[in-house]
Amino acid sequence: MLQLELTEMQEMIRDTAREFAQNEVAPSAIERDIKGEFPAEIVAKLGELGFLGMMVSPEWGGAGLDAVSYVVAMEEISKVDASVGVIMSVNNSLVCWALETFGTDDQKERFLRPLASGQKLGAYCLSEPEAGSDARNQNTAATQNDDGSWTLNGTKNWITNGTSADVYLVYAQTNRELGHKGISAFIVEKGAPGFTHGVKEDKLGIRSSDTCSLQFQDVRVPAENVLGEVGRGFNLAMETLNGGRIGIASQALGIAQGAFEAAVAYSKERKVLGKPIADLQAIQFKLADMATKIAAARALVYQAASKKDKHERFVKEASMAKLFASKTAVEVALEAVQVHGGYGYVREYKVERYLRDAKITEIYEGTSEIQHIVIARELQKEFGG
Ligand code: CAA
Repeated sequence: MLQLELTEMQEMIRDTAREFAQNEVAPSAIERDIKGEFPAEIVAKLGELGFLGMMVSPEWGGAGLDAVSYVVAMEEISKVDASVGVIMSVNNSLVCWALETFGTDDQKERFLRPLASGQKLGAYCLSEPEAGSDARNQNTAATQNDDGSWTLNGTKNWITNGTSADVYLVYAQTNRELGHKGISAFIVEKGAPGFTHGVKEDKLGIRSSDTCSLQFQDVRVPAENVLGEVGRGFNLAMETLNGGRIGIASQALGIAQGAFEAAVAYSKERKVLGKPIADLQAIQFKLADMATKIAAARALVYQAASKKDKHERFVKEASMAKLFASKTAVEVALEAVQVHGGYGYVREYKVERYLRDAKITEIYEGTSEIQHIVIARELQKEFGG
């Protein structure tokens, strides 16, 4: 059954995240966006509050919460700063989840524990110059040495937390002839000889998250740093992305909600012919449309998270949530700019940032076109054909 009512615990998580977001993240968000400055102090505090390992078991230093609590917190953080939202999402859904699900106890001790408690930060390294949507087309390659260790060579692109992470999950070909069954996952630590990063990308939005390329030149990875089975890396990457897509959907939901609230506040303040523009039907209809889309997006996000919590298959629901919430974020942010008129076009009023930040949610962790493919394939499985 679709869960829309939050439990007391989930409400408490939402309130904690909201308070932290409003008091500690929001005040400096515009400045960080302008400077493209990584929110290091905020990330450290997120870790202290347990927001970087929300779904990780307390046994490994996490908060042991459910996916609904996670999306609720993600929405609150992303509502004020989507850059912080993506840092949080990647660490929780793409790195911690993969390590907890596929890692050995030794890997959990060495990597998951510090990642879940925020002492370290993680990055997920799948995309390459020629492997974006076509993720199986990996050119990064790992060859095994006589002592069982691996030597990694290649380039990764568009890596979130790229310059700031300590632990990198890197996918690479270990047997090109086997197609996607020849891809494996490796844990690479910051500072490994031969491992360097490129300059921080100068992006349209989420400007204070650091995105960059990574280069691996004869990087030696110990045998005990293979994550999961050799040859199962592509499947591991895809399974991990299902949860990641719920994270990005909730980030998009937060952006939409933030843009909507800004539009409501402005419409009550701004007067035309002596009356607030909120009295105009033209504005009321825009707000009505925005609120309707946000409510529908939230239902999809909660549905996907609830299914994950119940250990049911949620591939289709995660893609639906991401597809719809990201579209909603772009549309709502665009309308929020329109409600603000000229003021919406300048930095001082945060809606232009919402619009720039919203666009990436239609691109990363699977473009909207990829989400259509995933949903269509799931439907074919359900209905045959
Ligand atoms: N969940 C679980 N398993 C999946 C899956 C999913 N969503 N999608 C595919 N698989 C499995 C299949 O079941 C299949 O398993 P078997 O080995 O048992 O056969 C295997 O993976 C291969 O599947 P396909 O033949 O369907 O693979 P494909 O090459 O046709 O690709 C795709 C499918 C959906 C297009 C996939 O390539 C894809 O999702 N592309 C998008 C990649 C993406 O989202 N990148 C995001 C980068 S990360 C990022 O953005 C992070 C960040 O920093 C913010």
